[in-house]
Amino acid sequence: MTEPVSALAVSVEINGEQVELEVPARRLLVHFLRDDLGLTGTHVGCDTGNCGACTVHLNGEPVKSCMLLAVQVDGARLTTVEGLASNGELTALQKSFREHHALQCGYCTPGMLMSATALLERNPRPTEDEVRYALQGNICRCTGYVNIVEAVVAAGGSTP
Ligand code: FES
Ligand code: FES
Repeated sequence: MTEPVSALAVSVEINGEQVELEVPARRLLVHFLRDDLGLTGTHVGCDTGNCGACTVHLNGEPVKSCMLLAVQVDGARLTTVEGLASNGELTALQKSFREHHALQCGYCTPGMLMSATALLERNPRPTEDEVRYALQGNICRCTGYVNIVEAVVAAGGSTP
């Protein structure tokens, strides 16, 4: 009888750096990021794919990292919220969140930023409706969404 595989090698680019690690075959990507790599900006709100707090970019597309195994990203390119700012300089979207008071407790913010960044990359001037549609997988318990939507629209250079 074959022994079950307990650990597998994962090689992945994260925020521009190549990472190679052995991980338990059933380790969720979000726990790989947070617990194995210390990238705690990616949050766990539900662990069931509902809240979006764990959103990261997988090869440029937003995904919920609680819905993937770490071994599934072998050979891929990941960006987490820690990878948005460059040399300490916040992105226009991050600055817009600050200027528009688009967060309260901040728990949802990393996921909001990752989903909105992906939107702005494919649609640099989204309308309010397009922003709301793009953020439908991200839940915020605090803000009522109004300032978040305004921040994303403003970062895109459109009029709210
Ligand atoms: S923790 Fe992944 S969607 Fe909520
Ligand atoms: S700011 Fe608290 S959950 Fe969104």
